[in-house]
Amino acid sequence: MSTFRAYSLFSIISALITRYVWTYLSTTEHCYTQITTLSGTKSQVNCFTVSRSGHFKSVYAKTDLHATQDGYVLPGLWDGHGHILQYGEMLHSVDLFQSSSKTEVCKRIVDYLDIHPDEGNASSWIRGMGWDQAAFGGVMPTAADLEADVKLQGKYIMLDRVDVHCIWVSQAVLNLLSKPLPDHVAGGEIVREPGLGVFCDNAMDLVTSVFPEVSRAKKAQWLSSAMAGLNSVGIVGVHDAGVKPDNIELYLEKAGGRDWTVRVYAMLACSVGNSFCPQSARKVSTPDGMLSVRSVKLFADGALGSWGSAMLEPYNDRPGERGSLLVNSSTLTNLATSWAGLGYQVNIHAIGDLANRNAIDALTAALKAVCSEQDTDLKACQEKARFRIEHSQIIHPDDQARMHNLGIIPSIQPTHATSDMEYAEDRLGQQRIKTEAYRMRSLSDLQFILGSDFPVEPPPPLEGIFAAVTRRSPRTGRGRGGKETGWHTEEAISVKEALLGFTQNAARGAFLEGRAGLIQEGAFADWIVLDRNILQIPTDELREVIVKETWVGGKKVFQRK
Ligand SMILES: *[C@@H]1O[C@H](CO)[C@@H](O)[C@H](O)[C@H]1NC(C)=O
Ligand SMILES: *[C@@H]1O[C@H](CO)[C@@H](O)[C@H](O)[C@H]1NC(C)=O
Ligand SMILES: [Zn+2]
Repeated sequence: MSTFRAYSLFSIISALITRYVWTYLSTTEHCYTQITTLSGTKSQVNCFTVSRSGHFKSVYAKTDLHATQDGYVLPGLWDGHGHILQYGEMLHSVDLFQSSSKTEVCKRIVDYLDIHPDEGNASSWIRGMGWDQAAFGGVMPTAADLEADVKLQGKYIMLDRVDVHCIWVSQAVLNLLSKPLPDHVAGGEIVREPGLGVFCDNAMDLVTSVFPEVSRAKKAQWLSSAMAGLNSVGIVGVHDAGVKPDNIELYLEKAGGRDWTVRVYAMLACSVGNSFCPQSARKVSTPDGMLSVRSVKLFADGALGSWGSAMLEPYNDRPGERGSLLVNSSTLTNLATSWAGLGYQVNIHAIGDLANRNAIDALTAALKAVCSEQDTDLKACQEKARFRIEHSQIIHPDDQARMHNLGIIPSIQPTHATSDMEYAEDRLGQQRIKTEAYRMRSLSDLQFILGSDFPVEPPPPLEGIFAAVTRRSPRTGRGRGGKETGWHTEEAISVKEALLGFTQNAARGAFLEGRAGLIQEGAFADWIVLDRNILQIPTDELREVIVKETWVGGKKVFQRK
């Protein structure tokens, strides 16, 4: 009897020890000065544990603080609309942002050529991004301008405008295009004054169709550079807003690898823009949550900067012109309905108020088509389908009301407002600015998703949060025309709302609610460590916040040196 008792006591104790050791080995504890979880029940704690599978295991407050690390933790941030490959390509190309003249553009390309002397041939063009004709006296540049520097003569060069809705190419590239060039391109423009060289929106296809194929090795390099850059500003996940089928294949091959340090929610974009390509589409959801595909990207119009956004009424500064639709309303509706029928989330790029109207029409029709007969409540269908409008930039009040009624999700980039504020009033006039443009606060019931549209804007979400909260430029800290006050602050939102836009709302827009964008048991163990608590500092200090560390799936992917 006593032997038996001793034996069973021994087995109980050893089982407890094994369990304790196993738990100890398989989870790691992290304690910080303060942890903001954004989760209902325990909003402020100071410790959590992470399981070996890369999820939060327990989240708690602890009082014996001998092993606490300095720093303020937030859930890892998501960019609700960015372009990872293009960002990586930008990191490996000529930086033309803020260039003040065409001479400076040429100089920056020459400097790049000094370091990369082999680039610029037919199989490897020089790429650059960030020019703006506003810096060239408002006149579009030409191919001839790039021949002005003797070192650039004969080189193959393709440079994206700051909004990536126009490209500027060299004479060598022009020579590759089949002649004669069409007089007119639907939904696009071949700029002919003061000379050839710039192609906008749909006309860019003439050039991109002769662009040499980029090797997979080069693309893989772009991906890893981009992801490292994104981690360094606190990003753990991205809604990649338009990925071609062959790039989805590349993503599938790379996802989960050592360099793949950002969760990607990719929106499929057919090789032929605005088409229905079910044969090259497939839904993806990797078990580790590093890649998922279940949405498509469609494009209603171009951008405001190049007068490409499609407007209900003419531009204020170009009477008679209303921009252009990339597809007509019936085609957009057919596309949205076809994709929705296959169970895809439909995300439509829309800037101008006509484009937004057509997008809402198309999404409404698609909802009607996928709603079951009994299910007549479109809002309930939309809660399942979660259709989105990318940018949602200029929306007629009647259409804003329709978005509220249906629950259509706006995907907004707060830095677009502060980058555009200098010219937006010229383009749109006071009335449209006041009632239609760059809404945020008045759309907050729709749980807007926030992002940057990198590489169009720099990726740091803290800059987006600053812009959303102050409606001032994160670069200068100033409002329109250098003013100290923000631009139309009646549409500003709180830091908390902005933070939700970059966390939980982004998670919901990617069908990841409860799994991403918050710190709670069972969610992905993705977090960032800041040097201060953004919910408790004066708003001007938002521009000084430092990202010290970024963790994805329980692994440290960035550490500030
Ligand atoms: C073209 O440029 C690439 C990249 O610099 C280089 O690897 C390649 O050898 C060049 N091709 C020719 C034909 O010069
Ligand atoms: C819309 O565009 C499609 C494709 O270009 C065309 O076939 C169709 O006739 C157009 N519909 C209208 C109403 O213009
Ligand atoms: Zn975009």
